[in-house]
Amino acid sequence: MRMFDVIEKKKHGKAMTKEEIQEMIQGYVAGSIPDYQMAAWAMAVYFAGLTDAELGELTLAMADSGERMDLSGIAGIKVDKHSTGGVGDKTTLAIAPIVAACGEKVAKMSGRGLGHTGGTIDKLESIPGYQTEIPLEDFFKNVNTNGLSVVGQSANLAPADKKLYALRDVTNTVDSIPLIAASVMSKKLAAGSDKIVLDVTCGSGAFMKCKEDAVTLAEKMVAIGEHAGKETVALITNMDTPLGENIGNAMEVAEIVALLNGKGKEDLYAVCIYLAKTMLYLAKKEKNPQITEDDCEKMAIEAVENGSALNKLKQMVAAQGGDVSVITDPSKWKKAQYAYEVVAQESGYVTHTDAMQLGIASMVLGAGREKKEDSIDFAAGIQLLKKTGDAVTVGDTLAVLYTEKYDTVVDAEKILREAYTIKKEKPAPEPLILAKVTKDGVQWFGK
Ligand code: URA
Repeated sequence: MRMFDVIEKKKHGKAMTKEEIQEMIQGYVAGSIPDYQMAAWAMAVYFAGLTDAELGELTLAMADSGERMDLSGIAGIKVDKHSTGGVGDKTTLAIAPIVAACGEKVAKMSGRGLGHTGGTIDKLESIPGYQTEIPLEDFFKNVNTNGLSVVGQSANLAPADKKLYALRDVTNTVDSIPLIAASVMSKKLAAGSDKIVLDVTCGSGAFMKCKEDAVTLAEKMVAIGEHAGKETVALITNMDTPLGENIGNAMEVAEIVALLNGKGKEDLYAVCIYLAKTMLYLAKKEKNPQITEDDCEKMAIEAVENGSALNKLKQMVAAQGGDVSVITDPSKWKKAQYAYEVVAQESGYVTHTDAMQLGIASMVLGAGREKKEDSIDFAAGIQLLKKTGDAVTVGDTLAVLYTEKYDTVVDAEKILREAYTIKKEKPAPEPLILAKVTKDGVQWFGK
């Protein structure tokens, strides 16, 4: 196979063979296919798409580019969860403890943030001492003992995705439906769980900007999961506005601790409970076919209300060397040196808080990386005191910017102001869960 010919084929929308796909992925991981040819291929796919057969083969080739995890050392049904990325998207930090508190096992490998989106591993590393890279035996032991462990992706889990994702990130080819589907599902297949819940984010802070594209992406990923024999459910969740109040690593962990103490923001709480109940239902119905999603929702709520989910979070943090005192006493978090209030210059209603812009503003403050090698300021971030739907009066604080680098504030404030749209009319509320996609079809909510 010559990569030049494959690019030519894809440029004209022709289908690649299984052998071509396998050779291309193997060659790319081995280094015999250079980045510039792979980038040209990714851009051709961006415009020409992939057939379902090509997408299936690409996903398998990427999943098999490294080691597939064997989770048989962990008893019971393992349900994995993956979000396609967002701003202030901290749900894993609440869902894993809730699901574990309800008796199911969560063995999760998560990623880092890049660009405007955050990553669970960076958030966890803001807890002093928390180890995201632990030996596999300890990962299994923690899940078997405590019911949960969240660690960084091992280097050998779908390495083709790792390399291709970094390339897509800098060649502006991330937001391609088939490339996202192959990226997400190759990792999920390689991660070895029995069932998969996908959180397909939709809106200004997500790669999918409209509901129809989000559903198409979800349908493709559900088909891949089911084809591989793993029951897969996708929820389309609203990411037009960041979830909850805080954007920024330590600030997001602190917000989850508040949620697990019963003081969660309504939108964040609702999405966490919905995702948790979906995971619980997939796991529990195998043992108890009579169980309903409503039963699972009640269990998830109970786990928050009785404190058992918070205890699970503490157990996970302790087992991975983290300082539990920041969980028991949030005043122990290291504070950012500067806190700067951005106040409203007009009155009315907030009709849009652009999640992507807010993600960029928090990156500018130091909470995210512009380049892979950048370091993160864990205390930096943004607290949103006003969000879409809220009434504002001139002089009200819209948001507070936290940073160690005062010279970032001017730029961050400018971006933040552009993120807010304030109008006279109160906007109609939007549903948080827009649709659910299973192998049986699409169920729309509030459409
Ligand atoms: N999340 C992923 O894991 N991959 C993508 O391509 C986009 C979001």
